[in-house]
Amino acid sequence: DSAVVETDVLIVGSGPAGSSAALFLSSLGVPNIMITKYRWTANTPRAHITNQRTMEIFRDLGIEEQVLADATPHHMIGDTVFCTSIAGEEIGRILTWGNHPARHADYELASPSLNCDIPQTYLEPILVRNATMRGTQTQFSTEYLSHTQDADGVNVRVLNRLTGTEYTIRTKYLIGADGARSKVAADIALPYEGQMDIAGSMNITFKADIAALVGHRPSVLYWVVQPGSNIGGIGAGLVRMVRPWNEWLIVWGFDINEGTPEVSEEDARQVVRNLIGVPDLDVEITGISLWGNNEQYATHLQKGRVFCAGDAVHKHPPSNGLGSNTSIQDSYNLAWKLAAVLNGQAGVELLETYSAERAPVARQIVTRANQSGREFVKLFEALGIDKAESPEEMHALIESRKDNTPEGAAKRAAVQEAMEIKNYEFNAHGVELGQHYASTAVVGDGTARPEPERDPELYYQPSTYPGVRLPHAWVGDNATKYSTHDLAPYGRFTLFTGITGAEWTTAAQKVSDQLGVTVETVVIGPGQGVTDLYFDWAKLREVAEDGAVLVRPDKHIGWRSDRLPEDPETALKTALTSILNRE
Ligand code: FDA
Repeated sequence: DSAVVETDVLIVGSGPAGSSAALFLSSLGVPNIMITKYRWTANTPRAHITNQRTMEIFRDLGIEEQVLADATPHHMIGDTVFCTSIAGEEIGRILTWGNHPARHADYELASPSLNCDIPQTYLEPILVRNATMRGTQTQFSTEYLSHTQDADGVNVRVLNRLTGTEYTIRTKYLIGADGARSKVAADIALPYEGQMDIAGSMNITFKADIAALVGHRPSVLYWVVQPGSNIGGIGAGLVRMVRPWNEWLIVWGFDINEGTPEVSEEDARQVVRNLIGVPDLDVEITGISLWGNNEQYATHLQKGRVFCAGDAVHKHPPSNGLGSNTSIQDSYNLAWKLAAVLNGQAGVELLETYSAERAPVARQIVTRANQSGREFVKLFEALGIDKAESPEEMHALIESRKDNTPEGAAKRAAVQEAMEIKNYEFNAHGVELGQHYASTAVVGDGTARPEPERDPELYYQPSTYPGVRLPHAWVGDNATKYSTHDLAPYGRFTLFTGITGAEWTTAAQKVSDQLGVTVETVVIGPGQGVTDLYFDWAKLREVAEDGAVLVRPDKHIGWRSDRLPEDPETALKTALTSILNRE
């Protein structure tokens, strides 16, 4: 047996969950090693829609510009078409990902960052590069084999796939970010609900310049309703932009009960030509892969010193574009807690809040994504094609939506209604930004959680209620504009107050010194470091000017105080001690 390598955190996997965990830990100065089985990052585009919550996280970590440089921007991703083929007739469109003028304000108001589209093949190298530059030891072609844990750490057996040699890494904590077939999760026997492989999909990547067909209705997704598009898969045939407008990925379903199909390059080319609707289209097939649609989530994410994140704990179809986003957000929740425990700033029980806070999210997003896939059936029902027995019948039924008859009118109304439901897949702003944590790392203030004023899946409602995400407002001075998020960076706790709450500053300084935890006070008001430029923060903060809002490193509200109490120091210290699970 060769030498034992030591680290604080070992991360298995360099996908969105693993590479972001490495970036977060390295940014916080925690020594870490990231191993990954293959010689490089993702080899197919996979996840791509990158929502505002994730973009804010990238902004926090100082890599938002790098991501945007490789991304297709917000305004080019949302003219989502439903059609019989790309060159064929349209059934309808939805403006997606906040691109509808009536929804755009919600997105602009909610966050300093807009969403965008960046395929995993472009995103992972950015995350790996920045993590490695900041300190991560990245080991490619290195496979996790097994582990044992004791009271002080974890011994992990790994295989160097180049040399064929095995060695041991001794780590204080282990993160299994090893994807939907996670071996780490299996080894700690995480409990799951739901099923794997409930439907079959094939991904076909190809190159074809179809700018003339799509450039005037720019979108990342073009949904195609054709014979076969209601079998398996993710609800309908999908032509997905990888790079505008000459690199694409088609997702096409197959009947998983019939076994795994053999898909030749010629078969793939035919699927492409059918969905594009150009029989002699010049197509270069660049890849074909098959995958199973899953509906499964872990109900607990940790065993002792071992944690799982990402697809290892939530397995679901790409509907709603939540896979990579949620994976990164898992790691954002976990990394600061590991850092706080490793630095002796928090009790080890803080780590239990990772499961308490993220397992409900896993359940929520798995359910949402699967429901969105299933809701495509409403469009098939509206068109009357859910029971069509032949391609000819299907074609005739789609055509009949044009009829000048009462049935034709009813069909048109039904199609409109079915399209409306797709907002729950493509404009689910509340799902993306409205996550609420309940755990010992959140201290309530005795008030009840505000009732949502609008549909909580479609609409995000800003609040400073303990456990929710910090509302964004632009504040600053005559030279610079900051988001409230910019003023609450990942490396510390931040306390927001106003001028009459100035006393919080001294209180926070004292508590910070006593606990050895950085708590920075931001006083917002005229003449202070930043002022409430548009008077938005005053409307969002939900506490009096002399009250305070305590923001955790991950930008979730840890605690708030409606007014300045007689003894702000004790009030803050009690809250922070509780959040950090300190004695
Ligand atoms: P991910 O699977 O990305 O990464 C796992 C990592 O673990 C890899 O680096 C792998 O090398 C490593 N690993 C595994 N076992 C290991 C071992 N024993 N030792 C060492 N390393 C090991 N999502 C979406 O939103 N839109 C989409 O269109 C698609 N399409 C899509 C297609 C295909 C074919 C797949 C497989 C997945 C998708 N997804 C998707 C899902 C999306 O890719 C997924 O949600 C994220 O990649 C999850 O990120 P993770 O980091 O959790 O796992």
